[in-house]
Amino acid sequence: MTSQASVSQSERPLLSVQDLKIRIQMDNGEMKAVDGVDFDIKKGKTLGLVGESGCGKSLTSRAIISINPKECETTGKIVYHSESEKALHQLDLLSLPTRSKQIRSIRGRKIAMIFQEPMTAFSPMYTIGNQIMEAILIHRTKNKKEAKKIALDMLSKVGISDQEKRFDQFPHEFSGGMRQRAMISMALSCNPELLIADEPTTALDVTIQAQVLELMKELQREFGMAILLVTHDLGIIAEMCDEVAVMYLGKIVEQSTVKEIFNNPKHPYTKGLLKSMPKLSGNRHARLESIEGTVPMAMNMPPMCGFYERCSDRIDGVCNTQAVPKTHISDNHMVRCFLYKAEGEGE
Ligand SMILES: Nc1ncnc2c1ncn2[C@@H]1O[C@H](COP(=O)(O)OP(=O)(O)OP(=O)(O)O)[C@@H](O)[C@H]1O
Ligand code: SF4
Ligand SMILES: [Mg+2]
Repeated sequence: MTSQASVSQSERPLLSVQDLKIRIQMDNGEMKAVDGVDFDIKKGKTLGLVGESGCGKSLTSRAIISINPKECETTGKIVYHSESEKALHQLDLLSLPTRSKQIRSIRGRKIAMIFQEPMTAFSPMYTIGNQIMEAILIHRTKNKKEAKKIALDMLSKVGISDQEKRFDQFPHEFSGGMRQRAMISMALSCNPELLIADEPTTALDVTIQAQVLELMKELQREFGMAILLVTHDLGIIAEMCDEVAVMYLGKIVEQSTVKEIFNNPKHPYTKGLLKSMPKLSGNRHARLESIEGTVPMAMNMPPMCGFYERCSDRIDGVCNTQAVPKTHISDNHMVRCFLYKAEGEGE
């Protein structure tokens, strides 16, 4: 069912993810891959989603545009505040059928996504130019000449020179960095309100990485789009984001502004991540692999803190016997940890 209702403009997030759960049935039980995730993305701002491999970052971000495989049973709400019509509307994207016209018109046009591996976004069979133009023809204009002009303009905006020649080349004729730029130009050619970037620079070398991030910032300033930036890399979070959500085993365990998370981290996992972050003298973009212990499987987990086995501050009989509620340390700082349990606050 499509939920549509008028909303007021004050303090309205562009996108609000509410109690998102993604369950996957496996041979040996049910995996709670995403387990009650909530966050808001504000217009024109960047939210970073950070956490170790397998914690559910990609499933969460893909759920927003309904591109997870069908074995992912998804519940909750993903409320998108649309401004395209005369009135403001809120629309629960999860309530739209996966192949419906409505979700297809939002995917690409209003919410675009870029991936770690640009070959995911491009077909090897068609030229880069044709594929960018195709997206523009679907979402923006029916006029081919105009679509080509927009595509060439976007290629130039992302720093690809000799665009006329590049337009007619196939993806394999582009270098990794160039393909990443081309994918960004395709994603941005429809002026999306939200760009979801899932590890957009992990496959690139450090110099190209910096250029692509700078480019995203520039384009954000120019087009005012919001960004959901998924990364393992706290260096990138520090450079790019306004707010950050730290994810662990399918849950957001801490969320606040970047400044607060870096200066006043609360959750033992966040503290571990920050400690494991290479200092300025080292490689600031190393992956987060140095916290001791491994992440347990999100399979048939009893109600307890998923970080229990790895936590040096754990309270036996408390942290391993019940689900951890959210605690709001301040208006903009949430943590899920018994060390900070607020009086009377429940799950
Ligand atoms: N289609 C699927 N079938 C079974 N398990 C899946 C499927 N998709 C994801 N998973 C599992 O769900 C968990 C979360 O996956 P997800 O891809 O969201 O992790 P991630 O945080 O993006 O990790 P990474 O940082 O490695 O990209 C992982 O344990 C993953 O193996
Ligand atoms: S709830 Fe307990 S085990 Fe979990 S992070 Fe906090 S102190 Fe550690
Ligand atoms: Mg991922």
